[in-house]
Amino acid sequence: MKHSSDMLSPRRGHPQVVPPKQLVPITTRDRGPATFFHGREREIQAFQKAQTDARASSGGTIFLIQDAPGAGKSALLHECAQRAAEDGWRVAEITNDALYDPAALADAVDVPYATKSTVHRETRWRAGLSSSVALFRRGAEGMSSEYAGRALRRVLEAAATPNGLVLVLDEAQTLRTLHGRQCQPALETTLALIHNGKIGAPVILLAGGLGMSRSVLGQFSISRFERGRVMGLGRLSVMAERAVIRDWLVRAGGARGESEYLARWIDTIAAECYGWPQHIQNYAVAAAQRLLDTGGVLTAQVSTEALAEGRDARVEYYDARVEDLDRADRVALARLLRQAGDGCALDTSELIAAFSSSGTPGGGLDVLRSALHKGVVVKRRDGRFEIPIPSMHTWLVQEYADSARTLPPMPRAAEGPAPARQRTTPRRSDNRDRDPGLGR
Ligand SMILES: Nc1ncnc2c1ncn2[C@@H]1O[C@H](COP(=O)(O)OP(=O)(O)OP(=O)(O)O)[C@@H](O)[C@H]1O
Ligand SMILES: [Mg+2]
Repeated sequence: MKHSSDMLSPRRGHPQVVPPKQLVPITTRDRGPATFFHGREREIQAFQKAQTDARASSGGTIFLIQDAPGAGKSALLHECAQRAAEDGWRVAEITNDALYDPAALADAVDVPYATKSTVHRETRWRAGLSSSVALFRRGAEGMSSEYAGRALRRVLEAAATPNGLVLVLDEAQTLRTLHGRQCQPALETTLALIHNGKIGAPVILLAGGLGMSRSVLGQFSISRFERGRVMGLGRLSVMAERAVIRDWLVRAGGARGESEYLARWIDTIAAECYGWPQHIQNYAVAAAQRLLDTGGVLTAQVSTEALAEGRDARVEYYDARVEDLDRADRVALARLLRQAGDGCALDTSELIAAFSSSGTPGGGLDVLRSALHKGVVVKRRDGRFEIPIPSMHTWLVQEYADSARTLPPMPRAAEGPAPARQRTTPRRSDNRDRDPGLGR
């Protein structure tokens, strides 16, 4: 993409980068809506198709975006929601309770929920408070699920104008905590109404969550999704990654000077990020801040402090991923990875056997669940597991396998020899999936 800041300098004959007059403030938040959003065209198009279909049929659907932490789910939810709002949809961010509690749903979608008949008998009715959502919220807890289901439907009907309603639910994997609870029937009713397009108006539940979100929805009887309605994200495209880094440097950091230097900064940062949004964010913000502190003048090489900050953030991110795993489990996983080699998939039986050796009370399966939940491993379509980011694979091996050689040997998989391994990480023409290493 050509930016207005690319200009030829008549004085030196070299293309010069000129920052915009107004710089975008640098925020230190590293989660959620993106300051400079790029890429994800495929996912946005798929969501727009769901919208078009919903309007055409006055129906609806559940649209799910699932992937590991830091893949950019919340940022994409925000982007889709913003576009839907511009397109005339009513958009409401909801939390889990809005799917089973009519008052919470009414509150979120901003429609009145205040008829006397909707208050359950356990609620102490007080004259004069008929419009208080807070009062009804207390009442909703005591509703029979059948009644709540009907009330939820009425709220959805009221909120979904002919233009449609988008309910945005992030962290959808947390719905699993509601499985088996009193609210489950009402929750299932709401999900089914939306998923099967039975509201009589366009209503879409736009949900984002970790890799197990689809199976969590399966626990609430949502098992079959229309084609193109469940999206995994993975890394950003090379172009999108470069565009994000460039925006941070120029539009937030005020980068100015030789465009050759700018290209070098972008190359260097991209080489460490592997297209992973969380890394891009951390490295690019650090570099932008550095530039801002030094008047925006681009140097021939990226500031070493900025790179060091990016690397620290990257390790911090990986530390946070594995913090719920016992050290013995981390070591077991790292050894499996070292044995498997770069870009290879792991079988369930191998992982469970490796994790079982740590003696965690719930056994290897529980540890595997925890690893999935934290995005340490992700499940592929063929049922095998892999590490979502190549540099995280390398980090795990360096940190836990190479430094732990003195521990007892790793147990063998319980079900005999593992099937032939298969390389899973596509080679990129720019060689970016070769990790330079992150040894500390
Ligand atoms: N397409 C994108 N363009 C630019 N920046 C992005 C993009 N996607 C994500 N980011 C940025 O990357 C960072 C991580 O993204 P985000 O918080 O959306 O990840 P997530 O998948 O929701 O993670 P978590 O599971 O931890 O909630 C955020 O700072 C976000 O703004
Ligand atoms: Mg998120």
